[in-house]
Amino acid sequence: MNSEAPPRKIPPPPRKPLPPPAPAPKAAEAAPAAQPVVEAPRSPIHINLTDVHKSFGPKHVLNGLSLEVPRGQSVVIIGGSGTGKSVTLKCILGILTPDQGSILVDDKEIIGQSARDREAMLRHFGMLFQGAALFDSLSVWENVAFGLIQGRKMPRGEAKEIAIAKLAQVGLGPEVGELSPAELSGGMQKRVGLARAIASDPDVIFFDEPTTGLDPIMADVINDLIVKCVKEVGATAVSITHDMASARKIADKIAMIYKGEIIWEGPADTVDDSGNEYVQQFINGSADGPIQMEVLKP
Ligand SMILES: Nc1ncnc2c1ncn2[C@@H]1O[C@H](COP(=O)(O)OP(=O)(O)OP(=O)(O)O)[C@@H](O)[C@H]1O
Ligand SMILES: [Mg+2]
Repeated sequence: MNSEAPPRKIPPPPRKPLPPPAPAPKAAEAAPAAQPVVEAPRSPIHINLTDVHKSFGPKHVLNGLSLEVPRGQSVVIIGGSGTGKSVTLKCILGILTPDQGSILVDDKEIIGQSARDREAMLRHFGMLFQGAALFDSLSVWENVAFGLIQGRKMPRGEAKEIAIAKLAQVGLGPEVGELSPAELSGGMQKRVGLARAIASDPDVIFFDEPTTGLDPIMADVINDLIVKCVKEVGATAVSITHDMASARKIADKIAMIYKGEIIWEGPADTVDDSGNEYVQQFINGSADGPIQMEVLKP
């Protein structure tokens, strides 16, 4: 625990009603007196980080970060540059290994999991990278279908059909599928990245700075598409952003990170009444307040 950390003020998160449980698969007809298969109830907390620590040498980046991501909700992590947002995301994705703490996904500990388990977990995740990160050597539809063809070994024809349908979901016609990413504007590239993120109907979608570098109108178009797509896929969403307009639009719950800890969290519509001076300074974009930028004085 960082002794300088401000007090946490965490109102209880809102709970959305859970979707009805998936029907149990039918027992094979030939199996005599088979008991109906009852699926274990899924935890209402989809991703649960508890007391996560991560240092790089002497630099403590995550200092006991705890965060609950309720199933089917959209959680947005806000915070300044260098506070540990991307490191948090990388810990959940298994790209970085925390030094201490616990990260449960579907009640399963993912810290220290085998490469095989991690691969299986990632198949349920979709990711929209900052800058879209499309492969220039592939056409747009091949980019969208990449995970289906490479990860799921789906035949190209079938994968292309899905890719075209996902492009339509983000408002792009089939002709765009034949273009190269280099022929697209930044806003179109983001949409293609979004189509790729939802291509395999993931359980969780991660958004890394989804609106950075876009003009305010295109940013709003992307925000609307994120809300629509997350709803259509029925996914849990975890986003990191500096952009408060985006956070307000796409979040059910907002969590603010500062010096590697969540210092405030609450329903998105309470962020203006947080009563937390760090949150207030961040959303007002003010240089005056408890948050001091670590910049060298000229
Ligand atoms: N692989 C690494 N090795 C050493 N230090 C790292 C590594 N990854 C991140 N850091 C450090 O951890 C701190 C937090 O980085 P992180 O990328 O999480 O910031 P962020 O909150 O995402 O910031 P931004 O908004 O600028 O992207 C930074 O000081 C960074 O230099
Ligand atoms: Mg970052």
